[in-house]
Amino acid sequence: MTKLNRVLPLATLMDVEALKAEAGRAACKYVEHGMNVGLGTGSTVKYTILELGRRVKEEGLKIIGVPTSIATESLATEVGIPLASLDDLNGLDIVIDGTDEFDPQFQLIKGGGAALLREKVVAQSSARMVVVADQRKQVATLGDFPLPVEITPFSHLTTVRALEKLLGCSVTLRTNEAGTLVTDNGNYIVDAHTGPTISNPLEMERMILNIAGVVQVGLFINMCDVVVLASSDGVVVLEKA
Ligand code: 5RP
Repeated sequence: MTKLNRVLPLATLMDVEALKAEAGRAACKYVEHGMNVGLGTGSTVKYTILELGRRVKEEGLKIIGVPTSIATESLATEVGIPLASLDDLNGLDIVIDGTDEFDPQFQLIKGGGAALLREKVVAQSSARMVVVADQRKQVATLGDFPLPVEITPFSHLTTVRALEKLLGCSVTLRTNEAGTLVTDNGNYIVDAHTGPTISNPLEMERMILNIAGVVQVGLFINMCDVVVLASSDGVVVLEKA
């Protein structure tokens, strides 16, 4: 899956990878025997999935996972986590997922990995949402990371124009090596370059969802309960007040 990435020098990238691993693994403490667990998508939560797979194999941990993307489904299957469809379960105890940004109110921008639709469906069905992140993801105001929006391929340029008019910024169609990126749901992703100006994400979510060609937007409002944050000083757990 093509990922929007902040450009960093190589040494810093290696540090960031270590932080991702720390945060991803630390979040596993929230997973207990018998839980139904939403499994997020991305390079941080990958470490959570690997560690849960280890606990399933080595410690006999009994959980059922619900993946939020085809990539996560493959990884979870590979490491031996039993999976089910959300439709076959009566809700989830917890979802653990990454984020592209979180603000002081724990509002999130997600979708850098193009999995925002399934991630949001799974998060809405979970009693608790734990986010794993490194220090780069903590912001005062959302929007430095371009806001991902999943849209229908049908008349997609019309939807792009409507978003540009609404938001007053450029909105770009996400591509990968194969051309236009197509999500696991057969849709497109566009990125809105709002800059760090999203002070009322709830209102912005409402207005964006009002455009007919929009399937979902990567604003996750009042969903996140805990952030497991890795910084150069170690891992800290931030709980929503
Ligand atoms: C995928 C997502 C990811 O959770 C988000 O992009 C963070 O990914 P990473 O941990 O690789 O930085 O929202 O749609």
